[in-house]
Amino acid sequence: MSGKALRLEGLTKRYGAVTAVDQLNLNIPPGIIFGLLGPNGAGKTTTLEMTEGLRRPDEGRVWLGEVDLIRHPAEAKRRFGVQLQTSAFFELLTVKETLELFQSLYSHPLRVGDLVGRMDLEEKRNARVDGLSGGQRQRLALAVALVNDPEVVFLDEPSAGLDPQARRNLWEVIVGLKAEGRTVVLTTHYMDEAEMLADRLAIMDHGRVLDEGAPRELIERHLPAAVIEVDRSTGIGTDTNLPALVRIEEREEVMALVTQHLEDTLTGLVAWASQHGRQLTGLKTRSATLEDVFLELTGRSLRE
Ligand SMILES: Nc1ncnc2c1ncn2[C@@H]1O[C@H](COP(=O)(O)OP(=O)(O)OP(=O)(O)O)[C@@H](O)[C@H]1O
Ligand SMILES: [Mg+2]
Repeated sequence: MSGKALRLEGLTKRYGAVTAVDQLNLNIPPGIIFGLLGPNGAGKTTTLEMTEGLRRPDEGRVWLGEVDLIRHPAEAKRRFGVQLQTSAFFELLTVKETLELFQSLYSHPLRVGDLVGRMDLEEKRNARVDGLSGGQRQRLALAVALVNDPEVVFLDEPSAGLDPQARRNLWEVIVGLKAEGRTVVLTTHYMDEAEMLADRLAIMDHGRVLDEGAPRELIERHLPAAVIEVDRSTGIGTDTNLPALVRIEEREEVMALVTQHLEDTLTGLVAWASQHGRQLTGLKTRSATLEDVFLELTGRSLRE
């Protein structure tokens, strides 16, 4: 599969007073896994739907190579495979019947046998959709997205609600799509998923891209060396002054000390604890993650 770059230029969508997507530009090279990361309401689904041709932008263009997909929507339908954030199926059809139904929409569909084989749904071929588990439904949604042998596959929160094992299986399938030369564009709330899968990421909030790059690049660009965590019971406040400290954040169960220089801050922290007669319960150090970058850029945590 040769593959062409996907370009989003100035995409904009307004709903009354809300600008869901605001002059968004993205350049997605072919054959990679591209991740869109952002909190609830950031505009990820709206961006995907406009790119897929399912929602009309108020402004902007979508290009696949030299083809203007807003002017030629049939090209988008032919070259794109889409898994929506919530997929509705006909619950009384079987897996095989569902795939046949979608096959009938295209002139050169992939074979049902190939699709169920690839998605590990052979056993469920004749099972009704209403009896599938969450993971099996997600795999069926992916099989449906692949029916037309697409160049670009869009996955909106593909692993939402799956258990860890099912997520890992799905990751393998997604990596397999890239290995076949397809471009994958996905949204996710899971940092580990973004870090694992995405070759490039765009971090979005309020309809705009705050930054984009390879996960490692983003971490290096926005983050200092490391993070020290201690339990909140330590009693350290966000205004405590320590050497080389960037800032102290209250997270759910811990206080996170973001630092430019791990040793200096740690030495200062130990001195602070002995001065104030405190125990450094739950002390941990770690290198910065995408979650830290996300907090840095949006001031919000990704989940909840
Ligand atoms: N059909 C619609 N009518 C009105 N407002 C909408 C509509 N669709 C989306 N919005 C608004 O646009 C903004 C972006 O929504 P969108 O679904 O694109 O976010 P998202 O990043 O996909 O969020 P989530 O992580 O929850 O899926 C939100 O403020 C949402 O309320
Ligand atoms: Mg969404």
